[in-house]
Amino acid sequence: MAATRVIMLGPPGAGKGTQAQRLCKEAGLAHMSTGDMLRAAVAAGTPVGLKAKSYMDGGKLVPDEVVIGVLVEAIDKALKNNAKGFVLDGFPRTLPQAEALKTNLAQRNLPIEQVILVNTPDKVVQDRLAARRSCSDPKCGAVYNLTSKPPKKADTCDICGKPIVLRNDDKPETVLVRQQTYWRDTAPLIQYYKQAGLLVEVDGSGSMDDIAVAIKATVAKGGSSSCGCCGCR
Ligand code: AP5
Repeated sequence: MAATRVIMLGPPGAGKGTQAQRLCKEAGLAHMSTGDMLRAAVAAGTPVGLKAKSYMDGGKLVPDEVVIGVLVEAIDKALKNNAKGFVLDGFPRTLPQAEALKTNLAQRNLPIEQVILVNTPDKVVQDRLAARRSCSDPKCGAVYNLTSKPPKKADTCDICGKPIVLRNDDKPETVLVRQQTYWRDTAPLIQYYKQAGLLVEVDGSGSMDDIAVAIKATVAKGGSSSCGCCGCR
């Protein structure tokens, strides 16, 4: 049976947001990106945004207790709106976040059904992030790429007409910090979800369309590609 509660896991710039958005549109699932939620909070100057800003600008993780609160609120809202399911993009990013998520979803009897690792090499990611441009209006949040997905009119968002900009944390020196943070704090989740029998890996270095096809097939099949104990399948 098709998975409807999915985590998109992978390094910064792997293409998680791009693919999560496409999958949600096709499958009618709610897209929950903690990065987008935190950027909106920073732009609005909320208490969460004020706490998160310096961590985000420095490429560091926002403290678990802050981001768990943000995510739980978003899940509550999606379920109240009768969402068919959801794709978590950028959450969890630490083992405590994964444990908090497991407990919260167990209380609702809505466990995660699949974790898709978008596996994209560091060098590919660095090139993609250097060329990424994002709409300056966080309410729009459209994402472009000067190489693979340029806007129709230079420096301008196709959707809302506002300027598109390099994200603060997409400067090369901050990207390196984000990559180190990923390998130290987030990559252990690969083994965690493999052991839970939920992990499926997709090669993130191909074209957006090819990756979307692979993800669609994976989600339609449901479950994991490995046995959950040793990855023998
Ligand atoms: P977040 O926004 O989640 O950043 P991230 O995980 O680093 O992911 P990105 O948004 O950079 O990349 P992506 O994988 O979505 O790639 P995209 O699809 O855009 O988080 C930002 C910050 O918020 C964190 O550093 C942290 O401070 C904080 N935060 C968020 N969640 C947190 C949490 N749970 N705990 C603690 N802190 C948290 O693609 C990248 C580019 O490549 C785009 O230009 C795109 O157009 C292009 N592209 C995509 N796919 C392809 C392809 N196949 N071929 C060519 N180009 C492609």
